[in-house]
Amino acid sequence: MTTVKALATGENELRVLVVAPTGRDGQMICDLLAGSGVTCVSSATSEMARLELNAGAGAIILAEEVLTLSDIAAWAAQISEQPSWSDLPLLLLTVAGAVNVENRKKALARQPLGNLVLLERPVRPETFISAVQAALRSRRRQYQVRDFIAERGLAEEVLRKAEKLAVAARLAASFSHEINNPLASVTNLLYLIGISASLDETQKYAEIASRELARVSEIVTQNLRFHRESNKPVAVEITQVVNAALNLYQARLATAGISIERDFRECSPVIGVVGELRQLMLNLIANAFDAIGRGGTLKIRIAGTREHNNGSRPGVRVTIGDTGSGIRPEIRNMLFEPFVSTKGNTGTGLGLWVSSEIVRRHSGTIQVKSRAHSPFTGTVFSIFLPSHPNWIPSLRSGEMNNCQRETMQFVA
Ligand SMILES: Nc1ncnc2c1ncn2[C@@H]1O[C@H](COP(=O)(O)OP(=O)(O)OP(=O)(O)O)[C@@H](O)[C@H]1O
Ligand SMILES: [Mg+2]
Repeated sequence: MTTVKALATGENELRVLVVAPTGRDGQMICDLLAGSGVTCVSSATSEMARLELNAGAGAIILAEEVLTLSDIAAWAAQISEQPSWSDLPLLLLTVAGAVNVENRKKALARQPLGNLVLLERPVRPETFISAVQAALRSRRRQYQVRDFIAERGLAEEVLRKAEKLAVAARLAASFSHEINNPLASVTNLLYLIGISASLDETQKYAEIASRELARVSEIVTQNLRFHRESNKPVAVEITQVVNAALNLYQARLATAGISIERDFRECSPVIGVVGELRQLMLNLIANAFDAIGRGGTLKIRIAGTREHNNGSRPGVRVTIGDTGSGIRPEIRNMLFEPFVSTKGNTGTGLGLWVSSEIVRRHSGTIQVKSRAHSPFTGTVFSIFLPSHPNWIPSLRSGEMNNCQRETMQFVA
């Protein structure tokens, strides 16, 4: 089947396709429109006009007498294939006459034709031309919407890439930071071994050094493993992803006097793209770290669950809570939009926007509760991720599904 999706751009966008094969009707309509500067193509049959439509059109003019029921169905099928921004105007030149069963059937069948205007003949030329011009004006608006959607799509793609780069940069910084600490202590221990007076002392220092090196090796192995993972959805142990992300922040959290509470319960693997899930966890942990500042608690809970309000989907709930400053009231309603940040030069404001996109791609949900008034302040992000591929059409087809993100609840 031919589709309207393939609408060509440029000069064909505003031409009018005419099917009025009786006598010289088609040619006369085109001559009339040419006088008003409208490009027109007259086709001998509906089928030919539908083929023309693939190269672009601003409006269609059909004479009622050429439309059989099956013809109406063919137009309706083609119209239903339009992209969401398109609402192709159709002008139907009707003939005055008695209302009979056949006419009523046709009128019913015409309903799926969408943006349809009936013009009863004989039509005065001025009326006809103004109807065509109104149709073309509405078509121009549709093209503007199309262009806007395309530009926005490109801009969002650039932002997504920017956030990926920002995460990579943060990751590289965390990585260097985390392996630098144990390496520094190994250097000190080697010095102590060099000047130690007894074998006992040497052995003690060597043991500590080997523990420190084991930690370096653990960080490197964990991260290399994640980097080798494919971009395809696989079964992912979310506890491992969270542990690897926490490992990267461990030393900094300790230096800031922030304690980590892990409550990891048994749960099945979720289906997801490992790199994306890691990016999600890193974003939320980084935000919690920034919000706590010094001396608070980061609590992470992971538990198997069923999402009862959504077809009882089996999955995993990850809850990341902090005793930080709480989310500022002025940004609460736009938290998941790009460029919303209170961190000045140190934040891009893309972290939560990308995180909510990742959750959406995994057909999950993300919720947030926050309190910014003392004495108790803090924030809890709660993420549900399905654990069965049947519940994740977006990952299977590579498309986004309906937005299920940001059910926001704030504790006053
Ligand atoms: N756990 C939290 N506690 C308090 N405020 C938070 C928390 N998480 C997010 N926010 C607020 O939401 C804003 C947006 O967060 P988001 O992660 O999108 O951007 P960012 O952290 O500012 O910058 P980046 O793009 O580098 O992550 C933050 O600037 C902060 O004000
Ligand atoms: Mg952030």
